[in-house]
Amino acid sequence: MQLTHARILLTGASGGLGYELARQLSGAGAALLLAGREPAKLAELRALLTAQGGEVTTICADLTRAEGVAVIARAAQDFRVNVLVNNAGASAFGLFENQEWPTIERVLATSLEAPIHLTHALVPWLRAQPQAAIVNIGSMFGSLPFPGFAAYSAAKAGLRAFSQALRRELSDSLVSVVHISPRAIDTPMNSGAVNALNAALDTHSDQPSEVAREIVAALARNEVERHIGFPERLFAWVNGLAPQVIDRALAGKLPTIKQHAARPH
Ligand SMILES: NC(=O)c1ccc[n+]([C@@H]2O[C@H](COP(=O)([O-])OP(=O)(O)OC[C@H]3O[C@@H](n4cnc5c(N)ncnc54)[C@H](OP(=O)(O)O)[C@@H]3O)[C@@H](O)[C@H]2O)c1
Repeated sequence: MQLTHARILLTGASGGLGYELARQLSGAGAALLLAGREPAKLAELRALLTAQGGEVTTICADLTRAEGVAVIARAAQDFRVNVLVNNAGASAFGLFENQEWPTIERVLATSLEAPIHLTHALVPWLRAQPQAAIVNIGSMFGSLPFPGFAAYSAAKAGLRAFSQALRRELSDSLVSVVHISPRAIDTPMNSGAVNALNAALDTHSDQPSEVAREIVAALARNEVERHIGFPERLFAWVNGLAPQVIDRALAGKLPTIKQHAARPH
């Protein structure tokens, strides 16, 4: 994908990873349509990027609502996008049996259903472009489901399966489907309890700028799958071959996970 000619819809542009993706994609010459829910944050980012010579427009809508998806899809066509980056997402840390219905619903609606519906709205448009890509930002937990993140792991595993099925369905078209699985990233998505858990488990958190760099590189090199971070990439691979090995390893960490899940978030 030639980023100098790309016209990109980026969801979750006001978030930790979205902000860095916007900066780096704009720096690589792409025109951006930034989507989020907070007009002030988007306006600030737009001002920064346009001052640096970027072509940037913004659109505000809630992706968990059908009308929100429709508004963004219309704006994307007006902007003549040829790349959709499904980056918006929501997580929730806690023992599954203690999580309330609205929490589970928010995670599934934002991290799984929203990217599926937005992609569905834009596939016919993207198919008609000379070159197009759909980039789904998943998570390592989609390939390495983790205790304390059952609904989020389910959403990201679903997004991974969706990406692979759609890639195979569009393999006779000019639309590529890219799926990225970052490990933990140092962004506002992670609560104090999650950061404390990561420290206790010695889990590394990447900086959003490093992760954005890997995503931009994957897009520029036409890579369709990338797991970011070692040894997590190896553990995800082992989980695919012999999940009981990972079951045993994570059983040893369960008391620590339970202790942190009991903390106020
Ligand atoms: N942080 C991590 O450890 C980590 C690890 C692996 C993968 N990821 C994935 O990376 C992506 C970016 O996450 P992040 O870490 O940058 O999180 P973040 O800082 O919390 O940003 C999340 C973004 O999603 C947007 N969003 C949430 N709910 C929305 C809704 N209903 N409608 C529209 N937009 C909505 C937020 O918009 P508002 O500003 O309006 O709330 C925000 O821009 C997500 O897909 C996440 O699952 C994160």
